[in-house]
Amino acid sequence: MQKHEMIAHARQVMADNDRGTYTVPTHGLYPFQWNWDSALSALGFAQFDEPRAWTEIETLLAHQWEDGMVPHIIFHTPDDGYFPGPEVWGTERPVPTTGITQPPVAGFAVARIHARARDKALADTQARALLPRIHAWHQWFYRARDPKGTGLVALLHPWESGRDNSVDWDAAFTRVPTEGVGEFTRRDTTHANPAHRPTDEQYKRYIWLVKKFRSLGWDNSKLHDASPFQVVDPGFNAILIRACQEVAELAERLDMPQIAAESRVMAEAGVAAMETLWNEDLGQYLCLDRTTGAQIDSPSIGGILAVFAPIPKHRAAGISARLKVLAESCEYLIPSHDPTAPEFEGLRYWRGPVWLIVNYMVADGLARAGEPEMIGRIMGDCLRLIETSGFAEYHDPITADPCGGAHFTWTAAMIIEILHSYDFAA
Ligand code: GLC
Repeated sequence: MQKHEMIAHARQVMADNDRGTYTVPTHGLYPFQWNWDSALSALGFAQFDEPRAWTEIETLLAHQWEDGMVPHIIFHTPDDGYFPGPEVWGTERPVPTTGITQPPVAGFAVARIHARARDKALADTQARALLPRIHAWHQWFYRARDPKGTGLVALLHPWESGRDNSVDWDAAFTRVPTEGVGEFTRRDTTHANPAHRPTDEQYKRYIWLVKKFRSLGWDNSKLHDASPFQVVDPGFNAILIRACQEVAELAERLDMPQIAAESRVMAEAGVAAMETLWNEDLGQYLCLDRTTGAQIDSPSIGGILAVFAPIPKHRAAGISARLKVLAESCEYLIPSHDPTAPEFEGLRYWRGPVWLIVNYMVADGLARAGEPEMIGRIMGDCLRLIETSGFAEYHDPITADPCGGAHFTWTAAMIIEILHSYDFAA
């Protein structure tokens, strides 16, 4: 497929999922606005419609909670095709939202869109308005999700990670009870192949946590300590650290010194603390189970995505070497779980398949760290996957089989972004 044909196709996918002021990830399976989907999709919009890109992020942040949290889903219009809907979350927001968050990639997206904006005046105005809100979100993270000041934030629900069904959560998740969750009907398995989706047992635990947090009135000063699930994810923390760093640099340029200084402190503490997640045997970072204090022995993409943060040069080189090893066991980089590990499943949600958004962030981190060796392979694999199997939610790293939802917004946005940003892909 020619570059211009691929871009035209991707733009069509984005247009079909555009609801005016926000996009849905895909019609049917995900009929609302998702947090990190929007931030990453804005990068694609910015390549052909800057005002629309800014609107996407503005809409997301318009639903920020008073305490600073930016929710993971905003239920703009009712749709009973999705479970758990607003009545399960019970957050009592003017426009219903969930009560948990998602990877804070918006700070990075704002900085990137600002840096290459053609309309500089619009970019300055938008960034000035958005930075204080994004900064408040970052501060919320360290306050609410790192109450002991370790420098790293914990996830309280697997859905916060964005890697919903990763093997990383399995052991810690066994401590989440299933009693008393009651009867419910899943909707995801009517839109996507059940074999690609989480099991019913896992779903019960997801809902148990939602009910627990709801019983605490979604009070973020209580949730962390009350949660039986507290996991520190290197990928998630890397996104937060990188966002703090980008916000610091942009705030400085826009003459917002307090935001710049506070952001820099958070980023530096985060980078230093990331070192505790490094695992020498595997040559990558690992999650930490905060309730036991032990690393989680699960070789997933979370520990590779860590390179998105400004980690030390020798660690970035280590991640590049790890990618070389992974490349030997799959056809398409980057598998969300090591294909040689026994838990690997090429088709099941975050337990093996490739996500283009993760590929993009890893490649960006490698470029920034001056570790270019694997970038061409990673970006080239993104294009091959889409050419072979279309704009699916995710793909099997061995066979390229398309999985999950089809016609996916952020997959399309990433293709637009990659084709515009990387010369070798032309
Ligand atoms: C799934 C993914 C999550 C994403 C959402 C919408 O829940 O795991 O990362 O934000 O779908 O695409």
